[in-house]
Amino acid sequence: MATPVKLAIVYYSSTGTIAEVAKELSDAGLKAGAEVRLLKAAELAPQTAIDSNPAWAANHAATAGVPVATPADVEWADAVIFGTPTRFGNVSAQLKQFIDTLGGLWAEGKLANKVYSGFVSTATAHAGQESTLLALYNSVHHFGGIIASPGFTDPAKFVDGNPYGTSHVDGQLSNPVDDVTRTAARIQAERVVQIAARLKAA
Ligand SMILES: Cc1cc2nc3c(=O)[nH]c(=O)nc-3n(C[C@H](O)[C@H](O)[C@H](O)COP(=O)(O)O)c2cc1C
Repeated sequence: MATPVKLAIVYYSSTGTIAEVAKELSDAGLKAGAEVRLLKAAELAPQTAIDSNPAWAANHAATAGVPVATPADVEWADAVIFGTPTRFGNVSAQLKQFIDTLGGLWAEGKLANKVYSGFVSTATAHAGQESTLLALYNSVHHFGGIIASPGFTDPAKFVDGNPYGTSHVDGQLSNPVDDVTRTAARIQAERVVQIAARLKAA
């Protein structure tokens, strides 16, 4: 019997949207037969900033039990799915800081030949979903990683419409993670696990 794919889902989330999508990806990864580590990037903001925003404080408390990602988790993984809220059309500092801790593994060639994918959320449509995912994937090119974007590989992808990765528009937190985003997350997790399994078997 083939060894299960090891999937790390490494995300940053302030106000909980990305944390919710990350859980969906994790559940779908498990259902697809992977061994999954659901991990968060360490918070960099001061406690006063977190406490000033009730949604941020609530998510911070709700995810206190989620382990903080370390480079060893990425070394362990066959596949990594990174998630971030957009920050002015770019990757959040917290997730980027985690990626920057991977320099040692990069220097040893240990980030190469793994499967990578990404997910994102924004407050409004057309406000950075593609640019954030493409910026995230810049780093993957440096890793020598294999980007498994969802593309339009499933009819449901024509509903959410983002081939670069799962994305959600939170509408300033008025639009909770819905079935369209959950379906996109499921498709992405299944695809990442399938591609990683094929590479592992090869
Ligand atoms: C500093 C900052 C910059 C942001 N930049 C954008 C942006 O460029 N476009 C956008 O639509 N939302 C932007 N947002 C909103 C968040 O990306 C969005 O609400 C996201 O879904 C939050 O995810 P989370 O709930 O997982 O933290 C920004 C938020 C902050 C705090």
